[in-house]
Amino acid sequence: MNITYDDEHRIFRLEAGGMCYCMGLTGEEGILTHLYFGPAIGTEDIAYLSRAAEYPGIQGPEDRDRAGFLDALPAEMPGYGTGDFRSPAVIVRDGRGQCTVHPVYEGHRITDGKPVLSGLPATFAGEQEAKTLEITLTDPSAGVRLVLSYSVFDDLPVVTRSVVFINDSPEELTLTRLFSCSVDMDLTDARMLTLNGAWGREKKMQISPVVIGQQSVSSLRGVSSHQAHPFLGLLAPGASQDAGEVYGFSLVYSGNFLAQVERNANDLLRVQLGIHPLGFSCRVAPGECFTAPEAVMIYSDRGLTGMTHTCHALCREHLIRSRYLHRKRPVLINNWEATFFDFDLEKLLKIARRAKKEGLELLVMDDGWFGKRDDDNSSLGDWVVNEKKLPGGLKRLSDELAAIGMKFGIWVEPEMVSPDSDLYRAHPDWAFSVDGRTPCRARNQYVLDLTRKEVRDAIFDQLCAVLDSADIAYVKWDMNRALTDVASHGEGGENGGLFHRFILGTYDLQERLLARYPDLLLENCSSGGGRFDMGMLFYSPQIWTSDDTDAIERLAIQEGTALLYPLSTMGAHISVSPSQAVGRLVPMTTRGHVALAGTFGYELDIDHLPEADAALIPGQVALYHRFNDLIREGDYYRIFSAQEEQYHDSYIVVEKDRSRALMTWVQVLARPAARSVRVRIPGLDPDGKYRIGIADPAVRNDDGSGNFLHEGEVHAMRAFLDRPVSGRTLAGAGILIPVLRGDFRSMLLEFVREQA
Ligand code: GLA
Repeated sequence: MNITYDDEHRIFRLEAGGMCYCMGLTGEEGILTHLYFGPAIGTEDIAYLSRAAEYPGIQGPEDRDRAGFLDALPAEMPGYGTGDFRSPAVIVRDGRGQCTVHPVYEGHRITDGKPVLSGLPATFAGEQEAKTLEITLTDPSAGVRLVLSYSVFDDLPVVTRSVVFINDSPEELTLTRLFSCSVDMDLTDARMLTLNGAWGREKKMQISPVVIGQQSVSSLRGVSSHQAHPFLGLLAPGASQDAGEVYGFSLVYSGNFLAQVERNANDLLRVQLGIHPLGFSCRVAPGECFTAPEAVMIYSDRGLTGMTHTCHALCREHLIRSRYLHRKRPVLINNWEATFFDFDLEKLLKIARRAKKEGLELLVMDDGWFGKRDDDNSSLGDWVVNEKKLPGGLKRLSDELAAIGMKFGIWVEPEMVSPDSDLYRAHPDWAFSVDGRTPCRARNQYVLDLTRKEVRDAIFDQLCAVLDSADIAYVKWDMNRALTDVASHGEGGENGGLFHRFILGTYDLQERLLARYPDLLLENCSSGGGRFDMGMLFYSPQIWTSDDTDAIERLAIQEGTALLYPLSTMGAHISVSPSQAVGRLVPMTTRGHVALAGTFGYELDIDHLPEADAALIPGQVALYHRFNDLIREGDYYRIFSAQEEQYHDSYIVVEKDRSRALMTWVQVLARPAARSVRVRIPGLDPDGKYRIGIADPAVRNDDGSGNFLHEGEVHAMRAFLDRPVSGRTLAGAGILIPVLRGDFRSMLLEFVREQA
């Protein structure tokens, strides 16, 4: 990695991992211009890429007729109201309502390492692992100064950027927009990739043409949301899964966001990500500053796979701080889908005893253990154990679990309050609400005003009392509604930036929690994957991926999530069949194979499971122990996507040294009169010889689960099973997987490289 400034041609050059990102200073005033983002190039003068010399160019500062010029210039921090009529990256208003801003170069510095972003999640790096370029821009007439920070890491083809706004004027200024990145790319006929969904079906991949005008995905819900994701990809013409140029833009943020691409008449694309300007404004006093969250920009010349691998590496090496990141997580059993609110000490212990017998390690007690909560109508905010359900409190439960040999985890939802709670009765003003209007309930609850320190302190104290009362190894931190009626009753509370300050409040609480309980395994959740983003991964090494635990639905959800995030971050549990989400019948082995691609656990009543299913649990747990190191740390490749092709879904995880790999094959639907499917195996060592075996012995036993691999099916794979085949042949010629009899069938194939 390297960052240089070419003084003669006024070009900044950021290089890492075969990627290069260049900016220039255009005109005498020094407008920061985007020049290039792509594969490594030489050090020649490429300032011509700004096209500043072409009509309607400018010659000098006297040349005031420059509206057309600015509107065509590829800018890096476009202002507002001075001639660039595309989407601005910054808008600021003074006391008289004036809001033009035109930032130009003032200075820069290049340093080792990467400074932290105070109060915000962000990528991190040691002194030797990263370099940072800070460019200061200024607009004296608006009284605005901006510090843009760009970092590059080791050998990753990534640039991160964040922006600090400083009020340099003698009066208060109101910031109404500050995007984290803004890149003007010369990329014709690109396609845009986004992750969209809904509750229970998060992160479906959508690819659409980029047409003239503006296209965006966004959230105004106060969370990054199930519906949209703070990510935008651009696929150059011809880009595919494994080849071609792909650009990925992500925001390390969990609140309201906008990710937008604007294509102008000259096919220049402006890509912008940042806090959504709607509902955002921030009053900044003279000399004070405001920091926008960090954006991540990835370049891949190996299609989507390259982008995925870079993003996984960035998350693992520079984003997730947890000490559990590289550790096998305990196999858990969560009682939510087993009991919902209807549980007590005995029920939990019964589940725990059986779970222990089957090899499980951690019992997670979900919603309903506190206040008087027997349904979702009450008690959020009263984080005091319900002794009617749990006599002796959490201490007794955790002691009994310890005696059984199980660890203990609990569920909390600290950002919320039920109208029927002691907390709300004592402090109705601690919930967001607008004077004169009854706030809207969602799941019968209100949102706490976490912008107020006294509210955060009170919640934090309650959490500490809970965590200090027993031996609690794990916390599931939930957040089950979108924000509405966002107005604060706090002293001098300014309402413009509340959505942003709310998420800062959440970050602050999680930061304090982890500082005080560094050994805690934290799993974030927001009605499933409603807040599964880079921001939350800074705090927790795993996030509950979706409330939909049906294995077939999960294929698409986990595929979309794994497009950006390592498999080690995805909460994935085996639940009952027919599934509670969609009523689908799926064999237990298939459910197990799909859940292996995540943190792995169970979410069912282990005591009331059909015996044939229960009998498979020890084998599933053994598979987890055998393969989790590989799945957690290896390189993930998509092979087939049931989203694109309804019959199959397949992916492989390859050990970093390519000595071993595990391929998951799911036949979603069977087909009559179909021939076998040719599958080319990516990622293996071309010169290595691999022995391929069926990894899960359970599918070889006819136990009535419906996923029995018949002798004929095994026979059809004899050409490659249990005999050495080179990685080169596997990548080129591939293997043939026969059509299996029945829907929702699956198998795991293990590839083991033979010693040379
Ligand atoms: C959310 C979570 C579930 C469960 C319930 C409890 O929906 O996503 O996993 O914890 O809340 O109320």
